[in-house]
Amino acid sequence: MSAPTAPTVPKAPSFADIRRAAEAIAVHLPPTPAWSYPALDAVAGCEVVVKHENTQPTGAFKVRGGIALAATMPADQLARGLVTASTGNHAQSIAYAARLADTTATIVVPTSAPTAKVDAVRLLGATVVTFGPTMTEAVAHARQLADERGMSYVDPGNTPAIIAGHATVYVELFRQRPDLEAVYVPIGSGSGAAGACLVRDELAPHCLVVGVQSSAAPAAYRSWASRRAEAAPCLTRHSGLATGHSFDLPQSVLAAGLVRFVLVGDDAIDRAVGLLAHKAHTLAEGAGAAALAGLLHDDARPARCAVVCTGGNASDDDLAALQPSPLPAD
Ligand SMILES: Cc1ncc(COP(=O)(O)O)c(C=O)c1O
Repeated sequence: MSAPTAPTVPKAPSFADIRRAAEAIAVHLPPTPAWSYPALDAVAGCEVVVKHENTQPTGAFKVRGGIALAATMPADQLARGLVTASTGNHAQSIAYAARLADTTATIVVPTSAPTAKVDAVRLLGATVVTFGPTMTEAVAHARQLADERGMSYVDPGNTPAIIAGHATVYVELFRQRPDLEAVYVPIGSGSGAAGACLVRDELAPHCLVVGVQSSAAPAAYRSWASRRAEAAPCLTRHSGLATGHSFDLPQSVLAAGLVRFVLVGDDAIDRAVGLLAHKAHTLAEGAGAAALAGLLHDDARPARCAVVCTGGNASDDDLAALQPSPLPAD
């Protein structure tokens, strides 16, 4: 199966776009904390700053993307209602933003989407349509619904305003810790990591951005390595990382922006969920702990690193996989 691609690759947001997104987001959300924890540093052998996007009202960094998008959308497009595809956190973001902007949201979720996230989307007032086993089929169906019903399609990975919103994590982080030598970012579509690279280029050019993906859903990694659109099996248990194809816009930024990619197994991600719980007082979902798993796998990690805890929407399976402390270092 070949990877679906957007007809043309949109332009990445400028730093001015990212600043405007930060202003729009600041109206609704305070900056998230960035803490380090001696017990976690001792396991990692370096300072690990945890950027706590798990504290967002929807439980994930993606809430920034929806707010930034709604702030830049023409009123007539907003009024048509938004339709998108997501395994849960982008869905909650669009539902949250639609509610703030007083419009409707329709979210296509693959059958693999966790029930708790889908329930949360419904509670935010969005209409949920379940379609297809993975994001690849769900994205295609969301596009079709937009065409048939005249709604505004929001591509989860290829929308510049959403990347600008996600980038604001890093505007905060590099202001909080300008001395970071590396930041580890989990990758599904790559929209968050693309935002990290764009902000790093402006605010912290010395800082390396390292991408982390599940080896059980490596499409973005393969695309980054080959410099082409790629599809790959999507077998990860961790829903935020469950993408079966690459997204062109993030990849256009990641090609030069990422210093390296670390692939980690789903079990290593489970162990990182446990480390965040036991060593950093933090409830993370698998995708939210993947950056830490990547850091621990990276023999070249420098002395002052950040991991973005991108989400705290732990599923029952994430919680069931929690091991008692102390954990073996991975
Ligand atoms: C908690 C969490 N972390 C990481 C990711 C991956 O982000 P991106 O799709 O921007 O690469 C997602 C995607 O939904 C997510 O929900």
